[in-house]
Amino acid sequence: MRQAGTRLAGKVAIVTGGAHGMGEAITRLFAAESASVAFCDLRADLGEAVAQSLRNAGGTADFTPADVSSDEDWGRLVRDTADRHGRIDILVNNAGISGSSFADPDDRAGWDTLMAVNARSVFLGATSVVPHMRAAGGGSIVNVCSIMGMVGSASGHPAYHASKAAVRNYTRAAACRYGEHWIRVNAIMPGYFPSMLSSARRSQSEGEGVTIEHLANQLPLRRVGRWEEIAFAALFLAGDESQYITGTELVVDGGYVAR
Ligand SMILES: NC(=O)c1ccc[n+]([C@@H]2O[C@H](COP(=O)([O-])OP(=O)(O)OC[C@H]3O[C@@H](n4cnc5c(N)ncnc54)[C@H](O)[C@@H]3O)[C@@H](O)[C@H]2O)c1
Repeated sequence: MRQAGTRLAGKVAIVTGGAHGMGEAITRLFAAESASVAFCDLRADLGEAVAQSLRNAGGTADFTPADVSSDEDWGRLVRDTADRHGRIDILVNNAGISGSSFADPDDRAGWDTLMAVNARSVFLGATSVVPHMRAAGGGSIVNVCSIMGMVGSASGHPAYHASKAAVRNYTRAAACRYGEHWIRVNAIMPGYFPSMLSSARRSQSEGEGVTIEHLANQLPLRRVGRWEEIAFAALFLAGDESQYITGTELVVDGGYVAR
């Protein structure tokens, strides 16, 4: 854990997909900034290990195995967090799956799965925490979206683009809907980061993709992102430093969409 900070002191945060990748980086940074973090993931092995390492370092972190596409799992996660900590101030909807999880880009079941895990989950999460945020006098919801919700591409399943575009505009609608309760809703739009790039490398070995170096060379900043760079964006949007910001998106992409 980083040296203890206090930017989220007194706040209770839920982070989805917190066992690996960007979600793990967000969970670790929020705990280091003194939040009480409740995080979930499908990967119980990784999640328990992250929680244990944060507690060993003096942080407050609880892991719950949960599927973000399940109404029941959301009910349990939010109820347990509110019971344990008495309030919920922050939700980071981070968990997601990539379009390259599906070999066939025209797979019809793939559309439903991507929409359920990447988009419907965000609506389930927000509607689950809003009553608790209202009771706490406000809150911040951060949706980890994607620049692929702003542009199209020929790689992966097209429903990935559609699911992230849905989250992009849901963010704006939810910001309008919940603003009067001082609940802010914002999105982060990551560009190329390691997990997705592993898939790109896999695709290349199958002769249908591009190299990490090729992707990096397209970017004005000439390298792919680091998970911590998403965590710092999430920290800003989750905490009080962004208290007059809602319905917006923070693009963290090394300049991809600026080209
Ligand atoms: N890696 C990239 O380049 C990139 C780019 C843009 C957006 N994103 C988005 O960022 C988010 C995090 O991606 P990442 O790169 O850290 O991926 P990752 O695969 O490293 O981590 C995602 C985590 O979410 C978990 N997860 C997946 N489905 C879940 C479910 N149904 N319920 C609960 N947990 C689940 C996984 O087990 C994993 O631990 C995703 O929403 C992804 O779409 C990633």
